[in-house]
Amino acid sequence: MSVTATEADDDSGTGTQSLVVTPTAISVPEGATATYSVKLSRQPTANVTVTSTAGTGDADLTISAGASLTFTTANWNTAQNVTVAAAQDADTTNGSRTITVASAGLTSVSVTATEADDDGGTPGTHVDNPYAGATGYVNSDWSSKAAAEPGGSAVANISTGVWLDRIAAIAGSSSAKGLAAHLDAALQQDAANGSTPLTIQFVIYNLPNRDCSALASNGELKISENGLNRYKTEYIDPIAAIMGQSKYSQLRIVTIIEIDSLPNLITNTNIAACQEAQQSGAYVQGVQYALNKLHAIPNVYTYIDAAHHGWLGWDTNFGPAAQLFASTVRGTTAGFASVDGFITNTANYSSLTEPYFTINTTVGGQTVRQSRWVDWNFYVDELSYAQAFRQRLISEGFASNIGMLIDTSRNGWGGSARPSGPSTSTNVDTFVNESRVDRRIHAGNWCNQSGAGLGERPRANPATGLDAYVWIKPPGESDGSSSEIPNNEGKGFDRMCDPTYTGNARNGNNLTGALPNAPISGQWFSAQFRQLLANAYPPVN
Ligand code: BGC
Repeated sequence: MSVTATEADDDSGTGTQSLVVTPTAISVPEGATATYSVKLSRQPTANVTVTSTAGTGDADLTISAGASLTFTTANWNTAQNVTVAAAQDADTTNGSRTITVASAGLTSVSVTATEADDDGGTPGTHVDNPYAGATGYVNSDWSSKAAAEPGGSAVANISTGVWLDRIAAIAGSSSAKGLAAHLDAALQQDAANGSTPLTIQFVIYNLPNRDCSALASNGELKISENGLNRYKTEYIDPIAAIMGQSKYSQLRIVTIIEIDSLPNLITNTNIAACQEAQQSGAYVQGVQYALNKLHAIPNVYTYIDAAHHGWLGWDTNFGPAAQLFASTVRGTTAGFASVDGFITNTANYSSLTEPYFTINTTVGGQTVRQSRWVDWNFYVDELSYAQAFRQRLISEGFASNIGMLIDTSRNGWGGSARPSGPSTSTNVDTFVNESRVDRRIHAGNWCNQSGAGLGERPRANPATGLDAYVWIKPPGESDGSSSEIPNNEGKGFDRMCDPTYTGNARNGNNLTGALPNAPISGQWFSAQFRQLLANAYPPVN
């Protein structure tokens, strides 16, 4: 028996013409392109036009080249490329789009293009240092005010902290974005920075009896008015609910926990509002509640406020503060794991380093610790304090990988008053006063300090034990009004913001060194911003 096989020829111009598309599914990296190729199966008798049209699906996928191809009787068998681009987007999903490859009279072919998203890394992962390898979120609310000042655009793109300083700040207002709007804007910035992760910083700052030892940043909640419950249910819960949304899971969300709260329980319980905060347990329980809710979100990072060297740098405060932080955190659900680190110098002016003397310097046979400026403190600057305090915290039980942050937004102390070398005086007071770059009248002064400058620009891993230098206090936002200004934010008038006030025990009964004509805390203070820019150290180019 014989079988006759007849070849169905495909090389001549005679059989059925068709589009040859390879491959019919492509993966397009976000922010980049990928191609598929097209040719004809038969030699045509005249020119053939092949179009590619993007149809339903993710609009970020578009055809960037080869949308219309011409095949001739000569080149019909040579593949030509169609290029598909995937725009940077803010989501973490791998969107896809169907592309129809068509030519008159021929059967169309579908190509499925799928974006390979680059924003997620691995959504929900928790890294050791959220600042490492990341860019920082630029808050346009602050940035536009900075940019409107002369020369301000040089620093307007720096990442600054977003202060959730009252319940209403969560929703935001016509002049200030709320939490979700900031996170949405962060997604956009993350999309625009390629595959680099983005870190956004929020200050959690609304404990009942807030700012108990001062008045300028008193808040809206009072312990005696159900403040702790309101803090939990009207403040922390909604914040955690928004931060925990899956669409934000690729962001690195840093939270700065309650400035000046626990440190006030160490040194200021002689003040009624602080005593109430201590005896009721409201500060400790509020911080624990915040840590429990925020740490439960894998991409949220928690840094507890650890005051500054001019507050906790004496042994009588240093050890007890570390112990209070440890006992507080031990009482959280996750224990020590609920804390990523600590921050010092938030909204303060203590210099990062004193270049011309250390705590071990002696002058005329006397240690600088004896000078009126140092006043027996064990630290002369923030870096030495932050590094030592970290060690102490670890010895109290905190994880050895905790990282410190230092707020360097306003501790630059440049300008013409900055000493250029150590004093030659053999009098210890004169030596310290002529050598120190921190030009404050007293290290206990904290409000709108005259002579201050912008400090180190934010960066990751700047020194041993430090996760980053950060700008948490947005430069140009007032620390408090220099005279009483009625307001509906609960802000009081603290005379430490009044340049004519001659002080109290906490600043050695000195003048306050505050700039005049300041608005209430948090409001834009143009004269202060201009001074900070002029006195920046390192200088702003
Ligand atoms: C104020 C806040 C403000 C923050 C940042 C604090 O002193 O009390 O209202 O958001 O500074 O400027």
